[in-house]
Amino acid sequence: MPIWSAERLAALRNDTPGCERRVHFNNAGAGLMPRLVIDAIKDHIDLESDIGGYEAGDARAAAIEDSYRAVAELVGTRPANIAFVENATVAYAQALSAIPFEFGDVLVTTTNDYISNQIMFLSMARRFGIEIVRAPDTEAGEVDLDGLRATIDRYGPRLVAVTHVPTNSGLVQPVEQIGAVCREFETLYLVDACQSLGQCTIDVASMGCDFLSATSRKFLRGPRGAGFLYASDRALQMQLAPLFLDMQGAVWEEADRYEVVPTARRFENWEFAYALVLGTGTAAQYAIDVGVDAVAKRTAILAASLREAVAAHGFRVLDRGSTQCGIVTVEVPTWEAADFHRALERRGINSAVSTRGYAVIDYDRKGVEWAIRLSPHYYNTEDEVELVASTLAELASP
Ligand SMILES: Cc1ncc(COP(=O)(O)O)c(C=O)c1O
Repeated sequence: MPIWSAERLAALRNDTPGCERRVHFNNAGAGLMPRLVIDAIKDHIDLESDIGGYEAGDARAAAIEDSYRAVAELVGTRPANIAFVENATVAYAQALSAIPFEFGDVLVTTTNDYISNQIMFLSMARRFGIEIVRAPDTEAGEVDLDGLRATIDRYGPRLVAVTHVPTNSGLVQPVEQIGAVCREFETLYLVDACQSLGQCTIDVASMGCDFLSATSRKFLRGPRGAGFLYASDRALQMQLAPLFLDMQGAVWEEADRYEVVPTARRFENWEFAYALVLGTGTAAQYAIDVGVDAVAKRTAILAASLREAVAAHGFRVLDRGSTQCGIVTVEVPTWEAADFHRALERRGINSAVSTRGYAVIDYDRKGVEWAIRLSPHYYNTEDEVELVASTLAELASP
C-alpha cells in the first residue's frame, strides 16, 4: 500500500523546483528546499533591501515568532524552549558549554557520534581533563542499553551525548530508550538530531532529553546557515546557560552583574539572519503539513529498496542497526572517491562521499576508507531509486 497517491507525490515534487533538474540523493547534505521556503527567504531579503534590515525585522516580528512556534510544534515542545542559532554545531557547542563540567568528570557518548562532537569532547578532555567514555554497541550496531546502564552506573557521568542518526551511515540510535536510562540515573542528556530531524519523528518529551540540536538544511529542507537548540524546562530551571552569553541571552544589570533570560533564548546571539529564521519556520510548518509520520515511513522504504537494489548488484552496503533511515552507504572498491562522486554528478545524480575521517571508529571497524553516501527523501521516486542503483552498477560493478 503506497504512502501517498501518485497525484500527491506529483504535487510534492511540483513544490520542489530542484526535482526537475537533478536526481537529488544528497538530502543528508542539504535537502531541496520547497518553493514556500525559497519564497519566505527571498521575500524577507527583498523587504530588507526595500525598507532596511532592522525595520524589516520589526515588520515581520509576528512571522518570526511564528517560526519559533512551528519548530517547537515539530519537536513537541513550546516556543520558550527553542533557540535559533547559525547551525547544528553552534547549537551543540552552546549546550555543551552550559554543562557544569569539573576536572575529572566523565562524558559518556557513543562510537557513532558526529565527528565535530567527538572533536569537541576531545578538546574538552585536553583542556579540562574531562574523561570520554564510549558506551558499547550491540551486535546489530546501535548502543547497547544494558551496556549503557552499566557504563553510567560505573562512571556517574556529568553528561550523556548521543547522535540520533550519524552522518556516515543509516543507523538510528534508540534515543527514547537511552533517554529512559538517563532519567533512571538523573543524568543530563544531549541529543544531536541534525540528520534525523525531518526524516524521523522527533518528540523531545519521549526522548526525555535536556538538549537537542538540529540544523535547518538537511532532511527538514530549510536553508543553509540556520539551526536551532531545544533546551528543556529542567535545563532552564537548573540555570544552565552558555559560557559565552551575549546581550540576547542576558541582561547587564549593574557593572558587575548580569541576569540570564528565563527562556531558551539565552542560547541565542543577538544578530540573526532573519530570512533564514523565517525559512526554517516555513520548512518546519511544511514538514508538519506534509505529515512527519508519512515522511518517515516513505523515506525509510525508499532507502531500504535502494539498499536491496545495490546489494542485488553485488555491492556491500555498510549501514548497520536494528532500525535504519534514509541514509544509505555503499562501498565502491574499484574507484577513487572524488572521481566516483564526479561520475555520478555528470549523470545528474547528487550524492556525497563519506570518508574515514568523518567516522574513524565506524569505518575502521567496517574496514573502509570511504563510502558513497546516498540519501533519498520522501519526494524522490521509486524510478529514481532504480536509476541510481543501475547507474552504480554500470559505473562500478564490484
Ligand atoms: C549528525 C550530524 N550532526 C551535526 C552536524 C553539523 O551540522 P551543521 O553543519 O549544521 O553544524 C552534521 C552535519 O553534517 C551531522 O551530520
